Amino acid sequence: MRQKIVAGNWKMNNDKGETKQLIKEIKKSIKKLSLKDTRVIVAPTFVHLASAVKRAENTKIEVVAQNMHQSKNGAFTGEISADMLKSIGVKTVILGHSERRSYFGETDAILAEKVNAVLENDLETIFCFGELLEDRKSENHFIVVESQLKNGLFHIEAAAWKNIVLAYEPVWAIGTGETASPEQAQEMHAFIRSIIEKRYGKDIADNVSILYGGSVKPSNAEEIFSKPDVDGGLIGGAALNAEDFTAIIKAI
Ligand code: PGA
Repeated sequence: MRQKIVAGNWKMNNDKGETKQLIKEIKKSIKKLSLKDTRVIVAPTFVHLASAVKRAENTKIEVVAQNMHQSKNGAFTGEISADMLKSIGVKTVILGHSERRSYFGETDAILAEKVNAVLENDLETIFCFGELLEDRKSENHFIVVESQLKNGLFHIEAAAWKNIVLAYEPVWAIGTGETASPEQAQEMHAFIRSIIEKRYGKDIADNVSILYGGSVKPSNAEEIFSKPDVDGGLIGGAALNAEDFTAIIKAI
């Protein structure tokens, strides 16, 4: 079912004390909000994931992972498996973030395997994709987004879409202060829905939640979220501050 979602990707930020503090502040500030159908998600670093899950118990905050390895277990130094995440109560994993793609060599093929691992373990993924600045300048952004989706996701069965949330994040807007205009976001989100509809039908296309990510902040969130095909946001920088994050949640 299509849902409204505000997800904070904390990336490599927040030590033990800061993680504790930020969860505490978010808990307090969202208490007064009526969040009926809105999901509030945070993705702390792996080191503090288990403690964050505990701290968020019995609240509206869902604690998710920033990444996951595709293998069940084995000799993969430094990596984290689906079983490990499940054993601490994590149910959702961000995959394919542009920083994973560009700094850590995650290709569409690797991401397709990670998606399979998510589905085999009945986890959910927030699957990220988006074009580079040069793709947009050369007007190849639709082609790039379509191929990222087809190569990473379009092998899954129709029934598996209930475990998929999409996050369109134009790379030129991530951490740069530059945001896609609400019209650019809407145009791409509608395009994404149209290619899903072509492959899987209208019902699945209408029901998938598509988040926008890239310099979302309190001052622009409301306008972006007002677009009909934008179901929420994946927030980086502004998610590190409880007041800003809460303002973005209010905007939805
Ligand atoms: P940003 O990051 O909000 O800091 O641009 C978004 C993201 O990387 O998901």
